Amino acid sequence: MQQSAYELIGDKKLDELVNRFYDHVSSHSELAPIFPSDFTETKRKQRQFLTQFFGGPSLYTEEHGHPMLRARHMPFKINKKRADAWLSCMAQALVEVDIEEPLRAYMFERFTLTAKHMINSSDSSA
Ligand code: HEM
Repeated sequence: MQQSAYELIGDKKLDELVNRFYDHVSSHSELAPIFPSDFTETKRKQRQFLTQFFGGPSLYTEEHGHPMLRARHMPFKINKKRADAWLSCMAQALVEVDIEEPLRAYMFERFTLTAKHMINSSDSSA
């Protein structure tokens, strides 16, 4: 049986990835203004989501229902600049926690497709 990306990453690395990612988000001038100042709950939900996104148990859905990610992001203005900023934070985090190729490229491709789908504004001003 083929291993899922979730199994290849492992819980410990997923946790490190999420922590690193939000460290970058919290200090990014395009992103920080739309996030809460306390990332505890955001991180918890993202760990749950990414577990299921990469083929692990459906932790996010069990607690919060269907992800409906685009709808859940509607309250926030997400233009291409913000999507690119999100992806650059994730690209750095993937390298910093030593997720190796080809897994890293696979994960980044999935993130890229999802980030594009979240764009809900063509207004380039933040
Ligand atoms: C929640 C921004 C892309 C997954 C959020 C929140 C913001 C945000 C502001 C609310 C945080 C909070 O109140 O705790 C963005 C921006 C993106 C983006 C600017 C740029 C494209 C993504 C992508 C994924 C993702 C690509 C998944 C691969 C989530 C999840 C939540 C979330 C799971 C929690 C939803 C909930 O409230 O239950 N995002 N996001 N986001 N985001 Fe994103």
